[in-house]
Amino acid sequence: MEENIEVIFNDFFKYKSGKFYAEEKSVEDIAKRYGTPCYLYSYHSLLSRIKKFKEAFNGVNTLICYSVKANSNISILKIIKEQGMGVDVVSGGELRRALLLNFPPNKIVFAGVGKKDEEIELGVKNHIYCFNIENEDEIDIIEKYARMYRRKVICNLRLNLDIDVDTHHYIKTSKKETKFGLDIHSAGNILRKHRNNKYVEIKGFHLHLGSQLKDTPPYTRALDNVKIFCKENNFSPEIIDLGGGFGIPYSSEDRVKDIEDFGVAIKEKIKEIGGKFLILEPGRYIVGNTSVLLCRVLYVKRRQDKNFVITDAGMNDLVRPAFYGSYHTIIPAKKSRGVKYIKADIVGPICETGDYLGKDIEVPDNIKRGDILIVGSAGAYCFSMASNYNSRPRPCEIMVRGTRDFVIRKREAYKDLWKGEL
Ligand SMILES: Cc1ncc(COP(=O)(O)O)c(C=O)c1O
Repeated sequence: MEENIEVIFNDFFKYKSGKFYAEEKSVEDIAKRYGTPCYLYSYHSLLSRIKKFKEAFNGVNTLICYSVKANSNISILKIIKEQGMGVDVVSGGELRRALLLNFPPNKIVFAGVGKKDEEIELGVKNHIYCFNIENEDEIDIIEKYARMYRRKVICNLRLNLDIDVDTHHYIKTSKKETKFGLDIHSAGNILRKHRNNKYVEIKGFHLHLGSQLKDTPPYTRALDNVKIFCKENNFSPEIIDLGGGFGIPYSSEDRVKDIEDFGVAIKEKIKEIGGKFLILEPGRYIVGNTSVLLCRVLYVKRRQDKNFVITDAGMNDLVRPAFYGSYHTIIPAKKSRGVKYIKADIVGPICETGDYLGKDIEVPDNIKRGDILIVGSAGAYCFSMASNYNSRPRPCEIMVRGTRDFVIRKREAYKDLWKGEL
């Protein structure tokens, strides 16, 4: 069980004298103080991910718009803003979060396959930088509001180039059988139709290919196709928005290209196309490995052919394993020396067989009620997908910065569960 966990936890989460720490705080102390389940973030880990991402795309004119859906906590968004980044939003709620935090409107991009009229109006009224278009009718609605607010709105056409990517099929977004983007014929028609539109200016393309991509070829292939499309349609794009998708390791065996390699490959292609302005929408890369979920062992069930460790965190707190079959590294908060390891399924208390956090995970043979387990890579698509299923209040979120810790979201109270119900 001596996994090389540094690739997942970086320098900011590690064992010190057998106890697991987030920066300078023992996770057992955090669990004791705030209870479990509890999402625990490292401030410095977040800063370091942002820095690495920015450095990888140095040298081209780039706007980095963090993808709010990955984790929309306002403390995290505030740090993102302080670091000069913009945001990619996909709903009125996400846009309102960005406006609440005073993100500069010219750093907000709005994507999404089903934008409502009121969401489009909110974006136009607040002068956001651009809309990424997935449907011809959407342009008519944008035009209506652009006319009403007397402004010209920038739009990029989201292309569906039928690019396959090596990831879970629920998060592939560029195959032609998915709902996303415009096929090249519709995109060509839209370009011709709106060339001289007074209210809508099509400046380029949007290409989010999928999430958790581990290598560069899908990006370079997509950009090669964009180049051909531009030539065929006699169009010079000013903006290329490549979306997000940059993968992270969830286990010590995951092989993911460094962000520098993505940077090199993408920058070269952007120069070839002659795109003047690159937009990127990373979510998972920025926050995925900056957080862990702490949970407490409630029971250990030993059967002849199988062991179960039942924790106080379930699929309502962290749904990725149940939803996508995703793997998360799970380790104990206290390292036991010289003990045997056994395999167990780490499961939650919810009434679903699919309610698990990990299958066949190695745990110390002496694991017992009250022990704290750490679920790694819990920063992206974890809290933001949490629900109240089984009438369970959602966990608290805590951020550690050096020796200090801050509540960045209170644990939900039982009364929050029925708030608004009549
Ligand atoms: C349009 C768009 N941009 C960006 C992202 C962020 O992707 P990731 O978290 O993989 O970087 C997503 C995720 O689904 C998306 O749909």
